[in-house]
Amino acid sequence: MSQRLENAILITGAGQRIGLHLARRFLAETDWPVLFTYRTMRPGVSELEAAGARGLMIDLTEPDASERVARFVSEQAASLRAVIHNASLWLKDETLAASPEGVNALVRLHMQVPYELNRLLVSWLRASASPLKDIISISDFNTARGSDRHAFYLATKAGLQNLTKSFAKLYAPEIKVNDIAPALIMFNEDDPEDYRRARLKKSLLQIEPGPEVVWQTVRWIMDNPYLTATSIPLDGGRSVV
Ligand SMILES: NC(=O)c1ccc[n+]([C@@H]2O[C@H](COP(=O)([O-])OP(=O)(O)OC[C@H]3O[C@@H](n4cnc5c(N)ncnc54)[C@H](OP(=O)(O)O)[C@@H]3O)[C@@H](O)[C@H]2O)c1
Repeated sequence: MSQRLENAILITGAGQRIGLHLARRFLAETDWPVLFTYRTMRPGVSELEAAGARGLMIDLTEPDASERVARFVSEQAASLRAVIHNASLWLKDETLAASPEGVNALVRLHMQVPYELNRLLVSWLRASASPLKDIISISDFNTARGSDRHAFYLATKAGLQNLTKSFAKLYAPEIKVNDIAPALIMFNEDDPEDYRRARLKKSLLQIEPGPEVVWQTVRWIMDNPYLTATSIPLDGGRSVV
């Protein structure tokens, strides 16, 4: 077995888009090794593994998923510098009505798995020699506003934000626990032009910023010794439009 890693970063759902970008940045710009989970084999997974990251293929909606992730971490790492809860599904209420298992998937991905991993992995975070240790979740800016199409998705993201406060209390002062609440970061490839224009008008800054702004926020949180129990809006001024 290869040597167990020290001060690793665990990112859930890092096979594409924002999670993949965060993993790439950690590999390129820090000395912290990267552990990640993915559900689907994608080019990003091979790229990360070729660059030295260690991945676990897992569907986080499976009942024993958290225990399997914890086992993977225990096999691969002696300590963790940070855990990043990124894996997510953006399901419409309309979709949930047609396939009720989606309700369970949202609860598991956004609330149950982060809750269980925070508990199962705390001793790996405590084992880190780094003076700063972090749990960071990625929720959604719209929890502040609600939605007539993504009500259940947002309810579970609000639950994820709420876990931040409880775990910040539980794990202080050794471990900081924070959340990032993004509005539009990246469009999906198949988003039509008129939808894109309408979404861009919903923020003051009117840009699709891309995942680098999430990386900047993650680094800022991790470097900041006086930040815990917060949810940082990353919204281009959306709150006042
Ligand atoms: N993109 C935005 O503009 C935006 C806006 C607000 C909030 N956010 C939040 O930012 C985070 C990243 O966004 P994103 O756009 O990069 O999301 P994304 O492209 O949908 O990627 C999310 C990842 O979650 C993983 N996932 C989904 N269901 C899973 C399951 N059952 N088991 C294991 N993994 C599962 C997927 O894995 P596979 O690919 O391996 O299947 C996927 O790679 C999410 O938490 C999202 O809610 C994004």
